[in-house]
Amino acid sequence: MFNHIPTYAGDPILSLMDAYQKDPRAHKVNLSIGLYYDEQQQVPQLQAIQQAYADLDTQLKQVKLYLPMSGLQRFNQASQQLIFSTADPAALDRIATVQSLGGSGALKLAADFIHQFFPNSQLWVSNPTWENHISIFTASGVNCHTYPYYDASTQGVDFKGMLDCLNTLAPKNVVLLHPCCHNPTGADLSQAQWDQVIQVLKTRELIAVFDMAYQGFSQGLQQDNYAICQALQANLSFMVSHSCSKIFSLYGERVGSLSIVCPDTEARIRVEGQLKSLVRKIYSSPPSTGALLVSHVLNTPKLYALWQQQVEEMRLRMQQMRQSLRDQLEQALEHDFSYLTTQQGMFSYTGLSPAQVQQLRDDYAIYLVGSGRLCIAGLNQKNLSYV
Ligand code: LMR
Repeated sequence: MFNHIPTYAGDPILSLMDAYQKDPRAHKVNLSIGLYYDEQQQVPQLQAIQQAYADLDTQLKQVKLYLPMSGLQRFNQASQQLIFSTADPAALDRIATVQSLGGSGALKLAADFIHQFFPNSQLWVSNPTWENHISIFTASGVNCHTYPYYDASTQGVDFKGMLDCLNTLAPKNVVLLHPCCHNPTGADLSQAQWDQVIQVLKTRELIAVFDMAYQGFSQGLQQDNYAICQALQANLSFMVSHSCSKIFSLYGERVGSLSIVCPDTEARIRVEGQLKSLVRKIYSSPPSTGALLVSHVLNTPKLYALWQQQVEEMRLRMQQMRQSLRDQLEQALEHDFSYLTTQQGMFSYTGLSPAQVQQLRDDYAIYLVGSGRLCIAGLNQKNLSYV
């Protein structure tokens, strides 16, 4: 019966986590998966989340009924305010937001929505992009292509190549964009470049999907949504997948959201209904714990302030690690490593080949992703010199 089922080669990122955990070497360093580790090499429980657990203790221990298909309403509202923080409150009425199973779950809903309602649309992702973007959209039946993005010679963005490609696309093609902390390269667009991209999206009538999994890890919570807020202001119709995994350190709770910005309230109601229908067909309704915790933090001013401060601490620690790694490498090798400090967020693209990445793993127990992506958040003062 099952002879035709091939062996799964494993996921290029998640399978490294298994290998790292099984590695018995005490000096091992995990610079592969996007997990934020603190100075003590621990994935921290954020104080704001700890306080939310304490405040909600009774509720979390009670029997939890099914959430609505769209998730916890106060979580969705708080997510909208975080994602579209500079928006006129009236504009929020034309945004359909549903809770999702992390950022990946939001992308899956977006992919199914596009496949169902824009069957002739194709998806364009940056070259390179997070491996799972292509897997998720292809699995939903959406054809994927790449637009030029990373320029290996400058270790920055090939902006001309990107814009030239977007300028050739037919209306209703879908363009996946990383509003901050590009995964895997860490090479981001400037605000002036975003303005140009938004202009192209508008003139060519393209559908943007902004994937924001690291809000706050580049320039700050209020700055990293620049592209999204500008797109809203430009009256585009677009989508945003948002993840709470990293910025709330709630990886296993699978909490995030998908927002679809519609032309008006009437369209928002129809879109929201169709999102609910998609949710019902895949998993019926989302889990409640993560959404209860996040909405409690976002809706409690004291906890919001504490959380904001902690996101800032994570951001600054990663910046410091970028600078220290650059300084130590430049001292040791007399080579320009400035890309480490110009790239932003959790990841840097080192340019190491798959064979070099393998050698680092085999000989030194240092884990990077095969593409040469290095997770800055796995570095600390203790392992830096060794790395
Ligand atoms: C990553 O890129 O490492 C994270 O987003 C985790 C994942 O699911 O791949």
